[in-house]
Amino acid sequence: MKPVLSVIGTGYLGATHAACMSSLGFTVIGIDNDAAKVAQLSRGELPFYEPDLENLLRAEIASGRLTFTTDFSAALSADVHFVCVGTPQMENSLAADLTYVRGAITALAPHLKSGALVVGKSTVPVGTAQALAAQLSVSAPHADLAWNPEFLREGFAIEDTLRPNRLVVGVTNDRAEEILKEVYAPILELGTPWIRADLPTSELVKVAANSFLATKISFINAMAEICEAAGGDVTILAEAIGYDPRIGNKFLQAGIGFGGGCLPKDIRAFMARAEELGAQQALEFLREIDAINMRARARVIDVVRSMLTSDLTLYKIAVLGAAFKPESDDVRDSPALDIAAQLHAAGALVTIHDPKAMASAGKRFPSLNFAESAQDCVSGADIVLHLTEWREYREIDPVHFKTLVKTPLIIDGRNALDRKKWVAAGWTFHALGRKN
Ligand code: UGA
Repeated sequence: MKPVLSVIGTGYLGATHAACMSSLGFTVIGIDNDAAKVAQLSRGELPFYEPDLENLLRAEIASGRLTFTTDFSAALSADVHFVCVGTPQMENSLAADLTYVRGAITALAPHLKSGALVVGKSTVPVGTAQALAAQLSVSAPHADLAWNPEFLREGFAIEDTLRPNRLVVGVTNDRAEEILKEVYAPILELGTPWIRADLPTSELVKVAANSFLATKISFINAMAEICEAAGGDVTILAEAIGYDPRIGNKFLQAGIGFGGGCLPKDIRAFMARAEELGAQQALEFLREIDAINMRARARVIDVVRSMLTSDLTLYKIAVLGAAFKPESDDVRDSPALDIAAQLHAAGALVTIHDPKAMASAGKRFPSLNFAESAQDCVSGADIVLHLTEWREYREIDPVHFKTLVKTPLIIDGRNALDRKKWVAAGWTFHALGRKN
């Protein structure tokens, strides 16, 4: 008999995990205290955009294996419980807010059957799992706790869940590892590397990985600043260093930097935790990584001012892209939306388009203007900013778009457009970190 699974918290991570585990043949109960979200998921509708996930969700609900509820007592029928609730940045500090994780464990504890395994997947500050294990040893001593960090990328959520490049489990005994091996058997059969660690190491793997990725992006953006100062080209530099397999060519795309619900908050929470541990010096460099990242946004605004005038009042600025990256409607800490909002605050008339993130961006900044299409967005614009590298924008015909704008000025904030084509069409094209 396959173990029955529950997934606590059905946001991005939880909804994906629930649908994917169901697709592997497990009975999965998704539990969330947000009744509207549960109702929506139960109808087979995703509250966010993720390629192919809605189809998978529908198929799994139709199979009868996947259900959603607000009732925590449903957990009683499950053997393994994945905790997938959010750990956002606290409002008044850099640290992660653990309210939802603690709340999930408290709500789950009375409904754990003997031998149940609670598996944390949320990104947490190191030491959290041990504290939760201590909490459980009082409230549900017959249950056990493990940690199993998640590395999925938005836009590739199904692929990264069903074919991850590694599985990492933090356990305190062999039984917990055996249960997790059984749950992940179909993925292990693909030859996926399996790493057993203790609880703190498994928590650290996640934040270390995200810190490394953030560092790579800020490194190349720092090189972009140097290229601009020295007359170099960061795209060629990135290609050239990327051929060294020790460096690798991934995550070296220079531009307006990283955003989203993970990288920015994770490096900040990591610094906050290091300080609590008295090891702040070790992560001092992450402060600089964060600063380089925020500077990339400010540099775009400086370029806009240099291409127009320093007073942006009443200039019409078209912003292509609001999501923090393509194939996502997530605008959490989105560099694109942040730049748009800053330009708006500076008095410019900003119009935004995004293929998927208009609703989420509108909710976040109701005072901004949104256009139904990229064409409408650029109509009459004094300058166009390309800030999220959707395929749709790469396919724009610059000759046609030149007829729509007031002035053919464009800043490519993602180094993703074909500069030659735009220049040939008569545009003044500014790319970050390249000769302009
Ligand atoms: C990130 C990690 O990549 C995942 O492995 C991790 O599981 C996830 O966070 C998480 O902690 O849950 P995600 O937030 O989906 O995934 O986004 P990424 O693909 O990492 O992109 C992050 C940001 O960096 C985006 O704003 C993207 O535009 C930017 N980026 C990425 C660059 O500016 N340059 C690059 O070369 C790559």
